[in-house]
Amino acid sequence: MIAVVGSLNLDLVVPVPHHPVPGETVLGGDIAQHPGGKGANQAVAAARAGGRVAMVGRVGEDDAAALMTDAVRGEGVDVSHLLRTPGVPTGRALIAVDGPGENTIVVSPGANGRLTPADIEAAREVLASAAVTVLQQEVPDEANHAAARLSGGLVLMNPAPAVPGAVLPPRVDLLVPNRTELAALTGHRGFDTLDEAAEAARGLRGAEAVVVTLGGDGVLLVEGGAALHLPAHRVEPVDTTAAGDSFCGSLAVALAEGLALEAAVRWASASAALSTTRPGAQPSLARRDEIDAFLARTG
Ligand code: RIB
Repeated sequence: MIAVVGSLNLDLVVPVPHHPVPGETVLGGDIAQHPGGKGANQAVAAARAGGRVAMVGRVGEDDAAALMTDAVRGEGVDVSHLLRTPGVPTGRALIAVDGPGENTIVVSPGANGRLTPADIEAAREVLASAAVTVLQQEVPDEANHAAARLSGGLVLMNPAPAVPGAVLPPRVDLLVPNRTELAALTGHRGFDTLDEAAEAARGLRGAEAVVVTLGGDGVLLVEGGAALHLPAHRVEPVDTTAAGDSFCGSLAVALAEGLALEAAVRWASASAALSTTRPGAQPSLARRDEIDAFLARTG
């Protein structure tokens, strides 16, 4: 079983010709509304990839709360630890997507920001029996720390988004940052080469392995001092939103099923590539048979 502790956001998505700079107004296309939130996306990705999944999180008491809960429940995710939060809106994300499919995202956490260690304690049994617990940074650090402490299996931390001053849980088995998040965690301004990124990942203390997702440049797997670069699958992206979530959810399933890390990363990369070929967060996430068929075609 996979436990996902994290956020649920209603995504409001606008296609834009280019991303605005501060002070600029851009006329975009028609707005679309999709279920999203890094936690919920990862839970749905894991369920579609064939995992048995339970989610721990908070929504408000507004219309979005029902929408978001129904979306994950509809994928077979156990929602008995999704809590209602009176007087607080469900999380929302304002997303702009440009022609090449790159996004900018502003999150209003709302109820996600009210998740407490006591909420996590109430899900103790779920966490203790999970083969993999999946965490991100759209809920308070204290909730993540409690979840890592109570997890009976592997702790997979996706330190997304990069939050200034965020503190990783003391126990993380596998850290999955993107390039920006790795830079934030290690105090770098950015990385010009893969070697620089690998060096920074090696310097991270605590996690047994670091998997750096590099978008169109693939994935960097850093384990025990060794670094392995896996190139990306060639696809025509229309929207990269939730590609990282697709990767994390599928990776959790592969690891829970006992795949070795490199094989699990290859499988999760295929899931992420597929997700970029479709618009939206949860609507874009791939199912297990699609991932297998894609890998059979592309190798
Ligand atoms: O990773 C994509 C997600 O980030 C979106 O669904 C949005 O809700 C934000 O959480």
